[in-house]
Amino acid sequence: MNLRYLAGSLTMAACLGLNAQRPVVITVHGDRGERTIPKEIYGQFAEHLGTCIYGGLWVGEESDIPNIQGYRTDVFHALKDLHIPVLRWPGGCFADEYHWMDGIGPKEKRPKMVNNNWGGTIEDNSFGTHEFLNLCEMLGCEPYISGNVGSGTVEELAKWVEYMTSEGDSPMARLRRQNGRDKAWKVKYLGVGNESWGCGGSMRPEYYSDLYRRYSTYCRNYDGNRLFKIASGASDYDYNWTRVLMEQVGGRMDGLSLHYYTVAGWSGSKGSATQFTPDDYYWTLGKCREIDDVLRRHVAIMDSYDPQKRIALILDEWGTWWDEEPGTVPGHLHQQNSLRDAMVASLSFDIFHKYTDRLKMANIAQIVNVLQSMILTKEDKMVLTPTYHVFKMYRVHQDATYLPLDIDCDTMDVRDGRRLPLVSATASRDKEGCVHISLSNVDLENDTEITVNLRGLSVRKVSGEMLTSANVTDFNSFEQPDRVRPVPFKGAEIDKDVLRVKLPAKSIVTLELK
Ligand code: AHR
Repeated sequence: MNLRYLAGSLTMAACLGLNAQRPVVITVHGDRGERTIPKEIYGQFAEHLGTCIYGGLWVGEESDIPNIQGYRTDVFHALKDLHIPVLRWPGGCFADEYHWMDGIGPKEKRPKMVNNNWGGTIEDNSFGTHEFLNLCEMLGCEPYISGNVGSGTVEELAKWVEYMTSEGDSPMARLRRQNGRDKAWKVKYLGVGNESWGCGGSMRPEYYSDLYRRYSTYCRNYDGNRLFKIASGASDYDYNWTRVLMEQVGGRMDGLSLHYYTVAGWSGSKGSATQFTPDDYYWTLGKCREIDDVLRRHVAIMDSYDPQKRIALILDEWGTWWDEEPGTVPGHLHQQNSLRDAMVASLSFDIFHKYTDRLKMANIAQIVNVLQSMILTKEDKMVLTPTYHVFKMYRVHQDATYLPLDIDCDTMDVRDGRRLPLVSATASRDKEGCVHISLSNVDLENDTEITVNLRGLSVRKVSGEMLTSANVTDFNSFEQPDRVRPVPFKGAEIDKDVLRVKLPAKSIVTLELK
């Protein structure tokens, strides 16, 4: 029996409800909380791509669509609710063709450009540095600027940093004042290039390492602003890139990035976002969970050069990548978002938390209207995606103490030979002492009984929220915006130091224990 057939038959059995799971046992080590889950794990990414910026975040002050100083009111409030810690901008691939000086000053004088990476759309630069940094201030999040190394000069990047962060009487600070902003912004995160092995310049790691050293030398710390410099990192399984960067750049970088997409491949169809089989669903979760191994291997390389863990791993692009929605503009990467995407988000966070001694930031691609987005917009309408709801349910883990856990549950074979545990979980304790446990039952057919041993924890009350839907292919549309949304969860009870949970099929739950 070949693997594909085996996977198919097990999936079919699960679909028919023949493979009820054995009871699941989880042990939460409440006595072993040693580190914090950085809130930046819940970071976002906004690129000049499709309708992410224009129409998604920004409509301009003259628009009929309700806005606050040009930012869509509905989107702004929804994002504010997510407690976004950090927002990466302006790309992605766009960043290495972006010339920041085109995006400052009077809007009518800003030059236009062709967005070569993303459908050849004309970019009018009406959303630039001021519009981005002001948005970050309004959202209360850290900006993460992705600098142009591929087609920009050292001088250009150095001046951008000066423009944004210099308080004094420097030429760029004066220019900023002329453009209406007196006080410098605080900019912590600076990416020195993006995907420099590909759209960011098709470089070899040895060459990029030298460029990183050169560009970063001239990105100065002005007036108390301390830059956290992030080198352009590997894609997926390119361990050699990480090795070379660690060897040749080392302590000159504060962070090294990594990109990992849950995607069926880079050529041909990536599959529909909403029309998929159970077999496709389980394959997706297997591919998503493979990031566990990918992180482990990149981390091991970093550990061998930097045992003190001074250099952070920054997963600044992750998420699902499906075929574009039929009828949308090619190259705009506009995709729907189903309960399957929500499951990818919850499983990913459960894994990210495990690596937070090295992994200090993750930025899902992307915030609005592009790839696995939080929000979809169409003219004046807005819809929150199932992924949005997972981010909101999981925000309790931001800056909380990570509590390790063990899971004993069934696994299944999926296409491509991966093994998929049927239950995923993570736990943390917040500053007020509340414990939060997130649980996902990936099984499409079977509810599961979970016994959670709460080692070293004393709790008496449990409450929770659940995200599920009748079908895993369900999504939120402009016609049915609340088809997939969280509801109160009543299936958990505490019995001394044991928590018993009945977790419905294909559901995601976050519990609060007091
Ligand atoms: O997120 C879409 C694109 O994916 C980004 O621009 C690029 O960095 C990556 O290849």
